[in-house]
Amino acid sequence: MTIFNLFKKKSEARPIFAALGTDMHCHLIPQVDDGSKCMEESIDCLNTLKAVGYNKVIITPHFQHPRFPNTEEDIVRRYEEVIRAAREAGVEIEIAGIGGEYRIDSGFKPRLENPRFLKVADKYVLVEFSLHQQMMGCDEMIFDMQMKGYEVILAHPERYPYLSVGGTRMEQLKNQGVFFQVNALSLGGFYGEEARRRAFAMLDMGIIEFMGTDTHNNLYAQALTDLSCNRKVEKVLEKYEFLNNTLL
Ligand SMILES: [Fe+2]
Repeated sequence: MTIFNLFKKKSEARPIFAALGTDMHCHLIPQVDDGSKCMEESIDCLNTLKAVGYNKVIITPHFQHPRFPNTEEDIVRRYEEVIRAAREAGVEIEIAGIGGEYRIDSGFKPRLENPRFLKVADKYVLVEFSLHQQMMGCDEMIFDMQMKGYEVILAHPERYPYLSVGGTRMEQLKNQGVFFQVNALSLGGFYGEEARRRAFAMLDMGIIEFMGTDTHNNLYAQALTDLSCNRKVEKVLEKYEFLNNTLL
């Protein structure tokens, strides 16, 4: 820590996300993925979500084979533990549901045959792509899900550099009726300049339906607190309509 950081005043959370109402993407079941490491960290993050304006949260652990071999049954059991701990700790945000963030990769196909998806608000299946490389057949798997009657939300499209903004593939996903969810922290540059620029471009194009925090741990929570003081982000929340407040 430099002497400047030492004296830098910590920003105070402002409730700029109140208009969204519900955060529908975060990793606050302890020790099931790369999210929070213990219940205390989950509680701290939940308190931050409340402080920046959310009144409800839906938790969405990773389902990714073989890295995070979670089962729906186990996640539901652990979710109930989080609810109990939050109640005991006096957490004020309502923990309003358990979903999942399903990675579409080579391990995904069997899920289509035996679908037990944990859905966001019992309605949407939140999916993500690889952050690094395009996998053949992803879009077809999404199409198959839709044919089976699932509503699909693609998490953070701004974070896939190979998915060109406004390109044919993105257009096709939108034409198929895939919902897009931007990460709030992308708007502040948390994932780098390219993701920030792509996020704003997609907002301008009117192709983003949801905003999520994708909170993993205290580092994200601090970034979210800082972001709540960002006037440009506050303007985004005033200017664009999101579907978060239709969820529950
Ligand atoms: Fe996530």
